[in-house]
Amino acid sequence: MSHEEYPTEEPAVVTCGLPYANGDLHIGHLRTYVGGDVLSRALETLGQQTAFVCGSDMHGTPIAVQAIQEGRDPEDLALEYHGQYQETFPQFGVDFDNYGHTHDETNRETTRETVETLDREGYVYEDEVLVAWDPEDDQPLPDRYVEGTCPYCGEQARGDECDEGCGRHLEPGAVEDPVSAISGNPAEYRERTHKFFRVSELSEYLSGFLDRLEGTANAQNQPRQWIEEGIEDWCITRDLDWGFDYPGREDLVLYVWVDAPIEYVSSAIQYSERVGADVYDWKDPWKRDGEIIHIIGRDIIQHHTIFWPAMLHVAGYNEPRAVVASGFMSLDGDAFSTSRNRAVWAREFLAEGFDPDTLRYYLTTVGGFQDDIDFSWDRFAERVNGELVGNVGNFAYRSLLFAHRNFGGTPDADVSAEVRDRIAEAVEAFEDAVNDYSTREATQAAVELAGFGNEYIQRHEPWNLDDEEAAPVIRDCVQIAKAVAVLVYPATPDAAGRLWDQLGEDGAVADATLEAAMEAPPAEFDAPAELFEKVEDERVAELRQKLEDRVDAATTDETESDEGDGDDEGSMSHEPLANERISFDDFDDLDVRVGRIESAAAIEDSDKLVRLEVDIGVETRQVVAGIQQLHDVDALPGTKVVVLANLEKAELFGVESDGMVLAAGEEADLLTTHGDAGPGTKIR
Ligand code: 2FM
Ligand code: ZN
Repeated sequence: MSHEEYPTEEPAVVTCGLPYANGDLHIGHLRTYVGGDVLSRALETLGQQTAFVCGSDMHGTPIAVQAIQEGRDPEDLALEYHGQYQETFPQFGVDFDNYGHTHDETNRETTRETVETLDREGYVYEDEVLVAWDPEDDQPLPDRYVEGTCPYCGEQARGDECDEGCGRHLEPGAVEDPVSAISGNPAEYRERTHKFFRVSELSEYLSGFLDRLEGTANAQNQPRQWIEEGIEDWCITRDLDWGFDYPGREDLVLYVWVDAPIEYVSSAIQYSERVGADVYDWKDPWKRDGEIIHIIGRDIIQHHTIFWPAMLHVAGYNEPRAVVASGFMSLDGDAFSTSRNRAVWAREFLAEGFDPDTLRYYLTTVGGFQDDIDFSWDRFAERVNGELVGNVGNFAYRSLLFAHRNFGGTPDADVSAEVRDRIAEAVEAFEDAVNDYSTREATQAAVELAGFGNEYIQRHEPWNLDDEEAAPVIRDCVQIAKAVAVLVYPATPDAAGRLWDQLGEDGAVADATLEAAMEAPPAEFDAPAELFEKVEDERVAELRQKLEDRVDAATTDETESDEGDGDDEGSMSHEPLANERISFDDFDDLDVRVGRIESAAAIEDSDKLVRLEVDIGVETRQVVAGIQQLHDVDALPGTKVVVLANLEKAELFGVESDGMVLAAGEEADLLTTHGDAGPGTKIR
């Protein structure tokens, strides 16, 4: 079944995986939330009515264990972080329509109803299960209270999740050689009676669901394998004091993964109650013909593609239309570590005075949503300076300044066919990208349009024309600037809003839909201001040093103590292997050639980029590579390199790059050939 294209007639709900309310947010955490926000804004730009909802995950052992460690009440602890998240997300433009939490009354009620329905429908039964137990403290050890060895891959694992190995959800009793995470005592297994959800009976339904599911490939493919391997029933209660009781049972608490996704529904209910069902009715996406889109981290794919759709199905809700799962994010090539302070904290980023839009832009465009991405201050500065300041900001400023000075605003002229077509092309690329859940490509459509604008104004040199001749050129540029504002709005909403105001527009760019890209801006507007601020080299050096010092301290801590905090996003020094296999045909689509560098020159104003002329046999290509600091530029000519020849063209610092020179790792170790294969030789 293929879904109707966005915008659909019926409202959508976009959700983001609920953050556990137990720690400060760093920029790695923000990736998923920014991704959800950009998608939700982009859908609205298409004209899709969308509610963007989320909430804090207050229950479960992540909170309970931390509360024990801090000697605090779990509810107080979770509420404190909930308050912090409520403040922090909007500071990055992550503008939820409703941000609730799992411990509130709405969620208590929705959870009770849902679980009662599962029970009533005959999908819940009681069975004996082995529960880890601390014999010395006479205490049950659910989930994160216990650690041990993963039965599937042999890595160190938490009680309910193989977080450092294969990433699987682990059922109670599964972890081998259990040890209490609280006392360090060796644990034993004891039989207890718990409630189980008959997920195994839903395999056929789930296979069909996965065929219909949209989103990222990782969320569609991984679960197919799990289903093929056979799905086991799911234990949905725990021996724990903190959480919601299983309805009618004061001795059993619901597993956190039951009431957490139900908060997606509860948060939408709260939104409806606040704005009125005539404005947004939560039942449209959840019960009628609307759309459900989940944005998550890839570590929770199993919960969102197996357990959650199974619950929704039995409880009489709609199934998700899309699950969009992000890759991991590293910091300077290595994992974030919250406990070891190996992080750039969200608050710190703001305190450094950076425009939150710049981080949103970086997180959105540095890689595809499903790719693993890395943050470094150098790369951040390069993208901000090259693409936001040098391209988008530069184009908008020069166009609007010219328009204001010479015409007092938008000149009275028609938009040329060339520009009309180019804007239409960008709008179409944006629409396609949003329908493909690619916020990166949607944003690139805007940035490439600005790149075209720069080329256009340069080509027509209005500064060498009289006003009559310049008017149509500037009219075109002003229209391009307006279209850029509309298309870049989801990724950089504040900057787009400023550009909108500079164009003299009434109302908010947030309310503009794609049609606005071709509507004339007002005839009068004031002098513009720069949209983005350059990140100066000294700032980068200072921030790089600060991070290096912090990382050194973290590494020292790591060697002094090899105890993990369990919250690190992966512990290896290499990026994890890609989840997905690609087909031979996909590989064959890559035109990779041997090349020889003919000339190399540093690009002015960039401390990283080099302009290379590379002979690839059939022709000589201009390629821009970020290798200035890592290589002796003068020594590069004559070096044989490996070139990805059919990569789409890009513009970096105003210089076109027609291909990519392949290099390994942070040091950009240039790939070359072992023998004498000459330029143009195809690499297979
Ligand atoms: O893994 C986590 O951080 C969970 N708190 C995510 C919950 S998402 C949803 F299903 F509620
Ligand atoms: Zn494992």
